[in-house]
Amino acid sequence: MADRILVAYATRYGSTVEVAETIGDELRKASVAVDVRPVNEITDLSSYRAAIIGSPIYMGKWLPEPQVFIERNQQYLRTIPVAFFAVGLTIEEGNPESLKKAEMSMDQVRMLVKPVDIGLFPGRLESGHLSFTDRAIIKMIRAKTGDFRNLEAVRAWAQAVREKIAPA
Ligand SMILES: Cc1cc2nc3c(=O)[nH]c(=O)nc-3n(C[C@H](O)[C@H](O)[C@H](O)COP(=O)(O)O)c2cc1C
Repeated sequence: MADRILVAYATRYGSTVEVAETIGDELRKASVAVDVRPVNEITDLSSYRAAIIGSPIYMGKWLPEPQVFIERNQQYLRTIPVAFFAVGLTIEEGNPESLKKAEMSMDQVRMLVKPVDIGLFPGRLESGHLSFTDRAIIKMIRAKTGDFRNLEAVRAWAQAVREKIAPA
Protein backbone atom coordinates (compact mmCIF):
# COMPACT_ATOMS: atom_id res chain seq x y z
CA MET A 1 0.00 0.00 0.00
CA ALA A 2 1.31 3.47 -0.86
CA ASP A 3 1.23 5.08 2.59
CA ARG A 4 4.71 6.59 2.96
CA ILE A 5 6.18 9.97 2.00
CA LEU A 6 9.51 10.15 0.22
CA VAL A 7 11.99 12.97 0.75
CA ALA A 8 14.64 12.46 -1.93
CA TYR A 9 17.72 14.60 -2.40
CA ALA A 10 21.00 14.96 -4.22
CA THR A 11 24.09 16.62 -2.76
CA ARG A 12 27.71 17.32 -3.62
CA TYR A 13 29.03 18.57 -0.26
CA GLY A 14 26.35 17.50 2.23
CA SER A 15 24.47 20.70 3.05
CA THR A 16 21.31 19.57 1.25
CA VAL A 17 21.23 16.39 3.36
CA GLU A 18 20.47 18.39 6.49
CA VAL A 19 17.76 20.35 4.69
CA ALA A 20 16.16 17.08 3.55
CA GLU A 21 16.47 15.56 7.04
CA THR A 22 14.82 18.64 8.54
CA ILE A 23 11.89 18.31 6.12
CA GLY A 24 11.57 14.61 7.01
CA ASP A 25 11.74 15.40 10.72
CA GLU A 26 8.96 17.96 10.43
CA LEU A 27 6.72 15.56 8.50
CA ARG A 28 7.27 12.82 11.09
CA LYS A 29 5.97 15.13 13.82
CA ALA A 30 2.56 14.62 12.27
CA SER A 31 2.89 10.82 12.54
CA VAL A 32 3.55 10.46 8.85
CA ALA A 33 5.79 7.57 7.73
CA VAL A 34 8.72 9.21 5.95
CA ASP A 35 11.86 8.01 4.17
CA VAL A 36 14.67 10.54 3.60
CA ARG A 37 16.99 9.07 0.98
CA PRO A 38 19.58 10.01 -1.65
CA VAL A 39 17.78 10.05 -4.96
CA ASN A 40 20.18 7.60 -6.61
CA GLU A 41 19.33 4.89 -4.04
CA ILE A 42 15.63 4.81 -4.86
CA THR A 43 14.55 2.00 -7.12
CA ASP A 44 10.88 1.49 -6.25
CA LEU A 45 8.33 4.24 -5.73
CA SER A 46 5.27 2.08 -5.23
CA SER A 47 5.15 2.52 -1.42
CA TYR A 48 4.99 6.32 -1.66
CA ARG A 49 1.82 8.38 -1.70
CA ALA A 50 3.71 11.69 -2.00
CA ALA A 51 7.24 12.86 -2.72
CA ILE A 52 9.42 15.87 -1.93
CA ILE A 53 12.49 16.05 -4.15
CA GLY A 54 15.36 18.52 -3.88
CA SER A 55 18.79 19.44 -5.16
CA PRO A 56 21.47 22.04 -4.60
CA ILE A 57 21.99 24.51 -7.44
CA TYR A 58 25.30 24.42 -9.31
CA MET A 59 25.89 26.96 -12.07
CA GLY A 60 22.20 27.74 -12.17
CA LYS A 61 21.06 24.14 -12.42
CA TRP A 62 19.98 21.19 -10.31
CA LEU A 63 22.45 18.32 -10.10
CA PRO A 64 21.76 15.76 -12.87
CA GLU A 65 20.72 12.80 -10.62
CA PRO A 66 17.36 14.18 -9.41
CA GLN A 67 16.54 15.41 -12.92
CA VAL A 68 17.19 11.94 -14.33
CA PHE A 69 15.18 10.39 -11.48
CA ILE A 70 12.19 12.60 -12.20
CA GLU A 71 12.44 11.98 -15.92
CA ARG A 72 12.55 8.19 -15.40
CA ASN A 73 9.72 8.16 -12.88
CA GLN A 74 7.58 10.94 -14.30
CA GLN A 75 4.65 8.66 -15.02
CA TYR A 76 4.27 7.56 -11.37
CA LEU A 77 5.15 11.00 -10.00
CA ARG A 78 2.31 12.54 -12.01
CA THR A 79 -0.15 10.37 -10.06
CA ILE A 80 0.89 11.56 -6.55
CA PRO A 81 1.42 15.00 -4.97
CA VAL A 82 5.01 16.16 -5.47
CA ALA A 83 6.93 19.17 -4.14
CA PHE A 84 10.39 20.35 -5.20
CA PHE A 85 13.04 22.32 -3.32
CA ALA A 86 16.33 23.91 -4.33
CA VAL A 87 19.25 24.88 -2.10
CA GLY A 88 21.56 27.64 -3.30
CA LEU A 89 23.69 30.50 -2.16
CA THR A 90 22.14 33.28 -4.21
CA ILE A 91 18.78 32.55 -2.55
CA GLU A 92 20.20 34.20 0.55
CA GLU A 93 20.24 37.54 -1.29
CA GLY A 94 16.45 37.31 -1.25
CA ASN A 95 15.83 39.78 -4.09
CA PRO A 96 13.30 38.99 -6.84
CA GLU A 97 16.01 38.49 -9.47
CA SER A 98 18.01 35.94 -7.47
CA LEU A 99 14.86 34.09 -6.43
CA LYS A 100 13.69 33.98 -10.05
CA LYS A 101 17.07 32.52 -11.08
CA ALA A 102 16.87 29.91 -8.33
CA GLU A 103 13.35 29.00 -9.45
CA MET A 104 14.62 28.58 -12.99
CA SER A 105 16.87 25.75 -11.78
CA MET A 106 13.64 23.75 -11.53
CA ASP A 107 12.19 24.69 -14.93
CA GLN A 108 13.02 21.35 -16.55
CA VAL A 109 11.62 19.14 -13.80
CA ARG A 110 8.54 21.36 -13.47
CA MET A 111 7.81 20.73 -17.12
CA LEU A 112 7.76 16.98 -16.42
CA VAL A 113 5.85 16.97 -13.13
CA LYS A 114 3.76 19.87 -11.81
CA PRO A 115 4.63 20.40 -8.13
CA VAL A 116 2.08 21.33 -5.47
CA ASP A 117 4.71 23.63 -4.00
CA ILE A 118 8.35 24.67 -4.42
CA GLY A 119 10.84 25.65 -1.72
CA LEU A 120 13.95 27.83 -2.11
CA PHE A 121 16.50 27.63 0.68
CA PRO A 122 19.87 29.33 1.23
CA GLY A 123 22.76 26.83 1.38
CA ARG A 124 26.27 26.46 2.70
CA LEU A 125 29.57 27.06 0.95
CA GLU A 126 32.87 26.30 2.67
CA SER A 127 35.85 26.65 0.38
CA GLY A 128 38.03 24.24 2.44
CA HIS A 129 35.84 21.30 1.45
CA LEU A 130 35.52 21.99 -2.25
CA SER A 131 37.10 20.16 -5.17
CA PHE A 132 39.89 21.97 -6.97
CA THR A 133 37.58 22.94 -9.84
CA ASP A 134 34.74 24.13 -7.61
CA ARG A 135 37.18 26.18 -5.52
CA ALA A 136 38.52 27.81 -8.67
CA ILE A 137 34.99 28.65 -9.83
CA ILE A 138 33.90 30.24 -6.58
CA LYS A 139 37.13 32.22 -6.44
CA MET A 140 36.55 33.45 -9.97
CA ILE A 141 32.97 34.55 -9.31
CA ARG A 142 33.96 35.83 -5.83
CA ALA A 143 31.15 33.91 -4.14
CA LYS A 144 30.81 34.56 -0.45
CA THR A 145 31.31 31.58 1.83
CA GLY A 146 29.49 30.53 4.97
CA ASP A 147 26.51 28.59 6.22
CA PHE A 148 23.34 30.50 5.36
CA ARG A 149 20.88 27.69 5.97
CA ASN A 150 17.77 28.61 7.93
CA LEU A 151 16.34 25.37 9.21
CA GLU A 152 13.38 27.14 10.83
CA ALA A 153 12.31 28.38 7.39
CA VAL A 154 12.73 24.82 6.09
CA ARG A 155 10.48 23.52 8.89
CA ALA A 156 7.83 26.13 8.16
CA TRP A 157 7.82 25.16 4.48
CA ALA A 158 7.64 21.45 5.33
CA GLN A 159 4.60 22.08 7.52
CA ALA A 160 2.84 23.98 4.75
CA VAL A 161 3.67 21.25 2.24
CA ARG A 162 2.47 18.52 4.60
CA GLU A 163 -0.93 20.20 4.78
CA LYS A 164 -1.09 20.04 0.98
CA ILE A 165 0.22 16.52 0.43
CA ALA A 166 -0.97 14.70 3.53
CA PRO A 167 -3.79 16.65 5.18
CA ALA A 168 -4.65 15.38 8.69
C1 LIG B 1 30.99 25.58 -8.23
C2 LIG B 1 29.76 26.04 -7.51
C3 LIG B 1 28.70 26.62 -8.22
C4 LIG B 1 27.55 27.07 -7.55
N1 LIG B 1 26.55 27.64 -8.29
C5 LIG B 1 25.46 28.14 -7.63
C6 LIG B 1 24.42 28.79 -8.36
O1 LIG B 1 24.44 28.90 -9.58
N2 LIG B 1 23.38 29.30 -7.66
C7 LIG B 1 23.30 29.20 -6.29
O2 LIG B 1 22.34 29.70 -5.70
N3 LIG B 1 24.25 28.57 -5.57
C8 LIG B 1 25.33 28.04 -6.21
N4 LIG B 1 26.31 27.38 -5.50
C9 LIG B 1 26.15 27.20 -4.05
C10 LIG B 1 25.57 25.82 -3.69
O3 LIG B 1 24.30 25.64 -4.25
C11 LIG B 1 25.48 25.72 -2.16
O4 LIG B 1 26.79 25.76 -1.64
C12 LIG B 1 24.75 24.48 -1.68
O5 LIG B 1 24.47 24.60 -0.30
C13 LIG B 1 25.55 23.21 -1.94
O6 LIG B 1 24.81 22.08 -1.56
P1 LIG B 1 25.50 20.68 -1.20
O7 LIG B 1 26.43 20.93 -0.03
O8 LIG B 1 24.34 19.81 -0.80
O9 LIG B 1 26.22 20.18 -2.41
C14 LIG B 1 27.46 26.92 -6.15
C15 LIG B 1 28.52 26.32 -5.43
C16 LIG B 1 29.66 25.90 -6.10
C17 LIG B 1 30.76 25.25 -5.31
